[in-house]
Amino acid sequence: MDNISVSTTDVRIERHASQLSRQLKLLREKLFPPLSQKTLRTFTSGEAAQMIGVSDGYLRQLSLDGKGPQPDVAINGRRSYTLGQINELRQHMARVKPKDALSYLPWRRSGEKLQTVAVTNFKGGSAKTTTSLYLAQYLALNGYRVLAIDLDPQASLSSMLGVQPEFDLGDGDTLYGAIRYDEGRRSLKDVVRKTYFDGLDLVPGNLELMEFEHETPRALNDRQRTGEVFFRRVGVAISEVEANYDIVVIDCPPQLGYLTLGAVCAATSLLITVHPQMVDVASMSQFLLMTSDLLSVVRKAGGDLKHDFIKYVVTRHEPFDAPQSQIVALLRNLFSDDVLTATILKSTAIADAGLTKQSLYEIERGQVRRSTYDRALESVNAANGEVLAGIHKAWGRK
Ligand SMILES: Nc1ncnc2c1ncn2[C@@H]1O[C@H](COP(=O)(O)OP(=O)(O)O)[C@@H](O)[C@H]1O
Ligand SMILES: [Mg+2]
Repeated sequence: MDNISVSTTDVRIERHASQLSRQLKLLREKLFPPLSQKTLRTFTSGEAAQMIGVSDGYLRQLSLDGKGPQPDVAINGRRSYTLGQINELRQHMARVKPKDALSYLPWRRSGEKLQTVAVTNFKGGSAKTTTSLYLAQYLALNGYRVLAIDLDPQASLSSMLGVQPEFDLGDGDTLYGAIRYDEGRRSLKDVVRKTYFDGLDLVPGNLELMEFEHETPRALNDRQRTGEVFFRRVGVAISEVEANYDIVVIDCPPQLGYLTLGAVCAATSLLITVHPQMVDVASMSQFLLMTSDLLSVVRKAGGDLKHDFIKYVVTRHEPFDAPQSQIVALLRNLFSDDVLTATILKSTAIADAGLTKQSLYEIERGQVRRSTYDRALESVNAANGEVLAGIHKAWGRK
């Protein structure tokens, strides 16, 4: 009669899961109607000119001459461009000024290998996803062809980039689809999707990624049948789409599992996020020890563990907090140049923008208090700029 009282735990939990999923779906439809695709704001002609590296007057003349994409002109005469148009203009400038092509269109040239940045730390809440998101968007806004890979089953990066992991994805629509061991494996080409951000593509994540953690031990016992060893599979998948990108940013899960190891082996550089608090730094020393142990096993098994750079980035930094300052000083003392000079400030602007699933790069400057917005964005830009400098150095650019 009373079903609930006699049902076993598995049945009960399954019922909870489907109830929750139904409610979430309703809630989501209310918050984000199915047809409301996420879009990126447009940029004023002043912003566009600055991004491209020309004067506003030059842009105006281009549009008057009917060259390049035509901006949207408001009633008050204000011209605005989409990021897609800005990228077209970058290509246009590179064509008409071939001598300065690289400053307009920074895509990698032959001899410059794909850069893959793995953002990692096994501590949840250490701002990995935020750091990955801002880095990927910064690079895309600067004209690079960027692929963001969400390797966290919790998939916050995917939802920030407009993909609802519970609803928008089918089987094999995450990186798992391209690294799984069985015949279901597909090319990463078929998994990558465009985002509303021109130049920024996404390999979304969801819970399916956990399968890789479960299957790898079995695959390790059965190497004949399962092909490439686990720590090379992420790299092999990325190589299938390599030609389309300059930079890949991987948001790692908050544990040191097979996915993280695969990402670290595929990466050309590591960005380790640090929240400068005693508890977090204490667990970081554990993280480093365990990472080093595991990586040495992987290296002895033939894994590639040469990285162009490894940088620690201090995030959610409160520079006026004395204990935090001590920890930042300690890190700089110990790791010197391996710690980015810029720190990412703790800011309500970043936290609030996160709640509405937008980054500071997406919201218009008027939407939050200017001083807060400017300070936060400056800190993020400075940190991202240092990462980009590391990438340029790896490419041998000045
Ligand atoms: N610089 C920052 N200022 C304020 N809040 C931040 C900042 N960076 C991250 N957060 C917030 O901290 C929480 C954890 O960040 P998140 O990037 O999701 O960490 P992780 O991916 O390591 O778990 C999120 O709610 C995020 O909005
Ligand atoms: Mg995260």
